[in-house]
Amino acid sequence: MTVIRIMSTIISFLLFSLILPVSSQNLTGDQIATVKSNLANGAKQSWEIGTRAQALLEYDSPQFSVFSSEKLPLQSSIFSSSVPGSLGEVLAIAQSTLSSLGGVGTSPQPLVPNDAVAGDPASIGVAVLLANWTGDGSSNNTNAQYGQAATNQLDFLYTDVPRTSDGAISHRTDQLQLWSDFVYMVPPFLAYYGVTSGNRTVVEEAYNQVKLYRNYLRDASAGGLWKHVVLGSGQDLGHWSTGNGWAAAGMLRVLATIQRSSFANGMKNEQIDLANWVREIHGAMYSHLQPNNLFKNYADSNTSFDDAASTALLAATVYRLANLWGTHTYIPEAERCRQTLSAPANSSMPNNGSPLAHFTQDMWLTPVVDPYNVGQQGTQSPESLAFVIEMQSAWRDWIQSGSKGANGGGRIFGNVQWKLVVGAVLVVVGALAAV
Ligand SMILES: *[C@@H]1O[C@H](CO)[C@@H](O)[C@H](O)[C@H]1NC(C)=O
Ligand SMILES: *[C@@H]1O[C@H](CO)[C@@H](O)[C@H](O)[C@H]1NC(C)=O
Ligand SMILES: *[C@@H]1O[C@H](CO)[C@@H](O)[C@H](O)[C@H]1NC(C)=O
Ligand SMILES: *[C@@H]1O[C@H](CO)[C@@H](O)[C@H](O)[C@H]1NC(C)=O
Ligand SMILES: *[C@@H]1O[C@H](CO)[C@@H](O)[C@H](O)[C@H]1NC(C)=O
Ligand SMILES: *[C@@H]1O[C@H](CO)[C@@H](O)[C@H](O)[C@H]1NC(C)=O
Repeated sequence: MTVIRIMSTIISFLLFSLILPVSSQNLTGDQIATVKSNLANGAKQSWEIGTRAQALLEYDSPQFSVFSSEKLPLQSSIFSSSVPGSLGEVLAIAQSTLSSLGGVGTSPQPLVPNDAVAGDPASIGVAVLLANWTGDGSSNNTNAQYGQAATNQLDFLYTDVPRTSDGAISHRTDQLQLWSDFVYMVPPFLAYYGVTSGNRTVVEEAYNQVKLYRNYLRDASAGGLWKHVVLGSGQDLGHWSTGNGWAAAGMLRVLATIQRSSFANGMKNEQIDLANWVREIHGAMYSHLQPNNLFKNYADSNTSFDDAASTALLAATVYRLANLWGTHTYIPEAERCRQTLSAPANSSMPNNGSPLAHFTQDMWLTPVVDPYNVGQQGTQSPESLAFVIEMQSAWRDWIQSGSKGANGGGRIFGNVQWKLVVGAVLVVVGALAAV
């Protein structure tokens, strides 16, 4: 009798453990290192280089990213004695960008010459502004050259790129066309430029561009999802999931930049708008999250394929919004997505012999959209690895701030220690009942 009761208690403990969501899934340091090296080798296009720089800042040098609590512009006390080694890869990006320019003039010029896309080179702008601010650790370029290169990039966007009649800067040089991607590539640079050069007008332009882009791209008839590409030839009116992620992530960088700056008090309404617009995208996107915790490549198209890239980027934005604004609505979803992306492969989710269900053996995220042809599934997506690094950074920072909002399924049952405690209590209760 007693034996049977103890047995049944142990069995219920085991069942309980199985039913509870698997958690504590986390990529190892070695796995992250391989992700970073694939990203370094794979990032060739201007927007990939800029996105990589941002991911490295957030992961390796969080003090220097806009998501830290340091005031902006950064106080020289945190780098005056020497430029920290953790910034090395970001400053190397600024350095090689200037080398490829082959000299810095004084006329409008993008940071990457002859890019068909007007907005993408600006994504490297924050790295270049950091090099202006801190120096690059070598004598090859002067701070002033970095500053001038950033100014030339700004002037290029202001003077050499088509605009809509109400002022939205085109994402392309050869035609007037607006892409959701722009919101990650340009406004964060404008905001950072305005803050480092003490020019509030440029910070306001960052906000203004976001506002204009939202007016053109937000689709009220699709619950507030953003369209991908409007105006001009070659539009994509579908609700590309990564594009929604680009928009939310770009808005959060603008919000964080304003929050940390001396303009914060004078720009309260702008901050409220930006936070609300991120929330709007979260609400629209997470209503389409599938039971397998992945988004479709086009969030509301049930004929499109599953996409882990946008799933990672959106999760990063949920942790960031929680830390910047205290909004925790979609933390449980972000936690489920992050855990799914870090989960081991198993018999029902085999992955060609890879130990992880959503990374190949050599640590490329899968399944992912082809970043060079967004209607198709791809194999190796550099940007998706930057999103993984941003998700890890944002998750880490959220944990460091106390894991707020991880209640219900997220916190109590999603945590191995709690499972063990609950299981132990069940065993003790069972044993007592047996006596
Ligand atoms: C996740 O793994 C990293 C190593 O990749 C480690 O530094 C970190 O502490 C882990 N985080 C948690 C919450 O387990
Ligand atoms: C500085 O420039 C020299 C000559 O062009 C080059 O060999 C060297 O690698 C550069 N240093 C850095 C840190 O980029
Ligand atoms: C470059 O840095 C200096 C401070 O060292 C600052 O005065 C200047 O405004 C910066 N330039 C830009 C474009 O941010
Ligand atoms: C701020 O930037 C704008 C745009 O480049 C420029 O027209 C204006 O002169 C700048 N203001 C100051 C005070 O530097
Ligand atoms: C896709 O969605 C449409 C419209 O909601 C629905 O009619 C159709 O059955 C769905 N197809 C699949 C395969 O789920
Ligand atoms: C296999 O992995 C999937 C995805 O992580 C998970 O949902 C499922 O519960 C796992 N199955 C087993 C038997 O562990």
